[in-house]
Amino acid sequence: MKNSKEAADFIRKGFDGKVDLAIIEGSGIDTFDDTYEKVFSASYRDIPHFPLSTVEGHAGQFSVYKKGNKAIADFKGRIHFYEGYSMWDVVFPIRLVYHLGIKNILLTNAAGSLTKAIEPGDLIILEDYINFAQNNPLIGYEPEFGERFVDMSDPFDKRMIKTAVTIYEKLNFPVKYGVYVFLTGPTYETSSEVKMIRLLGGNLVGMSTVPELIMARQMGINVLGISLCTNFGTGISDTPLSHSEVIETGKRAKRKLKDFFREFTDVL
Ligand code: HPA
Repeated sequence: MKNSKEAADFIRKGFDGKVDLAIIEGSGIDTFDDTYEKVFSASYRDIPHFPLSTVEGHAGQFSVYKKGNKAIADFKGRIHFYEGYSMWDVVFPIRLVYHLGIKNILLTNAAGSLTKAIEPGDLIILEDYINFAQNNPLIGYEPEFGERFVDMSDPFDKRMIKTAVTIYEKLNFPVKYGVYVFLTGPTYETSSEVKMIRLLGGNLVGMSTVPELIMARQMGINVLGISLCTNFGTGISDTPLSHSEVIETGKRAKRKLKDFFREFTDVL
């Protein structure tokens, strides 16, 4: 798509080296510390054609960080379907990184847990997903990005999952796997919906990630997905859900994700 190519060209004017990894930082997530050197930064507003995030906790800043000889592209702030954007807008960052030649992406998000076995503050390694949104970014075919019909037997990259597990063990994080169920939101689920989703095999719910994942898989980009559990889903906990709760837990668990990310970028 011409627009995402123009966005990539704009970034190339500021940073022209090889980029080893891209990360999308979900609600309240903040992965970079001062061990990384910021070598390029631009507000989404200044990147040609970039859709603007309207949600609190999503800054809307693109940066490239360096650590040793590795470069990492960072999207701080994501575009959600529930903001009223098209699916193609939602996956714009993925199209952009495709034009930058990036082969690996880390998708992070805040998610609700549908089981007592996954608690707020846990970092969950995603192993599969259910697309409950009745929509898909591959509707309306653009051949330049890959095949129309995309295999999804292993949506998340097995090798990256293995690396993540090794790091979790080193850091003493409990290794927990998730089947992430994507709903459009922005309403949280009813308790009946939670019961239904559990019956279908999901253990996490959220309003993002799956569109970007699908887009990346069409392009042959490898994806690691990590959910930060911020709350129990409706009916699992006794308290009502609020966006401020999601942001607050995100802040508390930030340190953990930072520790993981430091190790992960060391072994890239
Ligand atoms: N449901 C949907 N999306 C979410 C949740 C939830 O419980 N928590 C964080 N994002």
